[in-house]
Amino acid sequence: MTARRVLVTGATGFLGSHVVEAHLEAGCRVRCSVRSTSDLRWLEGLDVERVELDVRDASGLSDALVGIDTVVHAAGITRATTEADYFRVNATGAARLAEAAVKAGVSRFVLISSLAARGPDGMAGPVSPYGESKRRGEDLARLFEERVELVVLRPGGIYGPRDTELLPLFQTAGRGWLMVPAGGPPLQPVYATDVARLTVAAATLPYAGVGPFPVAEERAYGWDEVAAGLSSALGRRVRSIPVPAGAFILAGAALERGARLVRRRPPLDRRRALDLSRHGWTCDTRPTRDAFGWRAQVPLEAGLVRTAEWYRRVGWL
Ligand SMILES: NC(=O)c1ccc[n+]([C@@H]2O[C@H](COP(=O)([O-])OP(=O)(O)OC[C@H]3O[C@@H](n4cnc5c(N)ncnc54)[C@H](OP(=O)(O)O)[C@@H]3O)[C@@H](O)[C@H]2O)c1
Repeated sequence: MTARRVLVTGATGFLGSHVVEAHLEAGCRVRCSVRSTSDLRWLEGLDVERVELDVRDASGLSDALVGIDTVVHAAGITRATTEADYFRVNATGAARLAEAAVKAGVSRFVLISSLAARGPDGMAGPVSPYGESKRRGEDLARLFEERVELVVLRPGGIYGPRDTELLPLFQTAGRGWLMVPAGGPPLQPVYATDVARLTVAAATLPYAGVGPFPVAEERAYGWDEVAAGLSSALGRRVRSIPVPAGAFILAGAALERGARLVRRRPPLDRRRALDLSRHGWTCDTRPTRDAFGWRAQVPLEAGLVRTAEWYRRVGWL
C-alpha cells in the first residue's frame, strides 16, 4: 500500500512542526508549506518535501496540492497588527485553500481552528478579532463540506516545546513568583504532541463528521495547580500572587507597553490578561474522544516539566 500523502500548512510554526513529526511517525509522506521568509529550523533533518505557499495569495496553491490525499491546515495568524490581517489569513486564506483542495481532489481536510472560534464559556460566540477570524474560517471552509471530508478541530491553549507564547511565563515563574488573576476561571490546556497525535487520527480514521471537535485535556486546572506544576518544572517554589481582575488587566497592558519599548514578548499582554481573568475557556472533550478514541495523554504537570526541560536544553531558559 502506498503511503498517504499529507500537506501540512504552518509546518514551520509551533503546532505545525509537531503535526509534521506525528505524521512522519505514522508513516506518511509529508509535504510542508513554507514561505520565503519562514524560519526552517524545526524542519531541519526531517524527511519532508517543501513547497512555497502563502494562503493570502492564490498562486502556488494548486502546485502545492498535486498528489495530496489529506491536508492538515495548521497555518494561521495568532498575533496580527490589524483585524484585516487576521481575516486575510485565518478566514479567506483557509477558504482559498479548502477550495483549491476540493479542485485538486483531496479527500480529507483537517482544519485547525480554535476554541476562540466558539468563544469563552457561557458566551454565544467569539469575543476577539482573532476568534472571529477563526470562526469565519470555519464557516467558509464548511461551504465545501459536501465535496471534501472536512474535520474542524478546536484546540484550547496549546503549550509545549518550541512555543514562544508561554516562554515569558516560564521565565517570570523562574524568578519564584507568578501573578495570577484572583478567583480567575480555570484553565484547560493541551500539550502540543497530544494535538499533533489527534491530527493523525482525524486524518486517517473512518470519517466521523465535521465537528467542531474541542481539543483539550479532559480536566481543567486552577491557578494554584499551574503554580505547583511550574514549581516542579522549574525546580523551585513558585508562589502565586493573586491580583484582582481590573489590576491584572492593567498590569497586562503595562507589561505589553514596556515590552514593546524593548521589542520583547511580554509575559502578559492586555488581551491575554482579559482572557485569563474574565473568561473561562473550558470544554467537554467527549465528542472528540467518541469520534477518534482520543484523549490527551500528557497531564499539565508532566507537560510543564517536559516543556521546561526542552527550553533549558535549547538555552531558552
Ligand atoms: N498556540 C495555541 O495555543 C493555539 C490554540 C488553538 C489554535 N491554534 C491554531 O493553531 C495554528 C498554529 O498556531 P501556532 O501557535 O503554531 O502559531 P505559529 O507558531 O505562529 O505558527 C503559525 C504558522 O502559520 C504560518 N503562516 C502564517 N501566515 C501564513 C500565511 N499567510 N500563509 C501560509 N502560512 C502562514 C507560519 O509560517 P511562517 O513560519 O512563514 O511565519 C507558521 O508556520 C493556528 O491556526 C492557530 O490559530 C493555536
